[in-house]
Amino acid sequence: MLNVRGLDQYYGGSHTLRGIDLDVPEGTCTALLGRNGVGKTTLLRCLIGELPVARGTVQLGGEDLTALPSYERARRGMGYVPQGREIFSRLTVGENLAVGESAARGATAPLSELEALFPILRTMRHRRGGDLSGGQQQQLAIARALISRPRLLLLDEPTEGIQPSTIKEIGRVLRALLERKMTIILVEQYLDFALELAEHCAVLSRGEIVLRGRITELEPAQVRRHLAV
Ligand SMILES: Nc1ncnc2c1ncn2[C@@H]1O[C@H](COP(=O)(O)OP(=O)(O)O)[C@@H](O)[C@H]1O
Ligand SMILES: [Mg+2]
Repeated sequence: MLNVRGLDQYYGGSHTLRGIDLDVPEGTCTALLGRNGVGKTTLLRCLIGELPVARGTVQLGGEDLTALPSYERARRGMGYVPQGREIFSRLTVGENLAVGESAARGATAPLSELEALFPILRTMRHRRGGDLSGGQQQQLAIARALISRPRLLLLDEPTEGIQPSTIKEIGRVLRALLERKMTIILVEQYLDFALELAEHCAVLSRGEIVLRGRITELEPAQVRRHLAV
């Protein structure tokens, strides 16, 4: 469903992504792993169109999105949950969701559907984003991405700095989304969480994919070796 070919990205003179090829099959989760600073967030931002690329192509469902700005990619079905969540702290939960709604092209997900996935959002609807805990903000960030009914969800370290009980909640929601044939790219440092959800994985090192495959066919030890500091 997502096909990336030969992606190169630079921050000024620094060559951050090098010849990235990535295929993400529909209705599955692909984990994107790697140590800090290898380019995971940069890659997601290139996919969503927040950062320009020097070379390469990004296709979604056979359509070439490479030249499109991020809002057009969102309208074609990409949902993005940024690292650190980026909730609007002075807006209420309901207003944060409304911002997500503005990214949609067609019908949006009803609030009741999102609140069924994340019951905490119902009780918090009139609270300011900044008053929520980290875990609640993460759930809000995921709901904000889901409101536009994406086909592909890009998640950047959703478990970072979050309590185990909320991590379980998030895992449960992601599994429910996969059952409904959502396609997910999951950037994670929390390896066990990623391996539980993902069918495929790709490991980045210094801007290059150095290991990839089906989770069932990879040795966990081999993956861990690439992630060890
Ligand atoms: N806006 C930026 N300008 C310049 N360099 C950046 C910027 N963002 C990230 N980098 C650098 O690019 C590299 C990859 O960063 P990043 O994609 O955030 O890695 P990861 O998400 O894997 O931790 C790092 O060396 C980082 O310092
Ligand atoms: Mg990152």
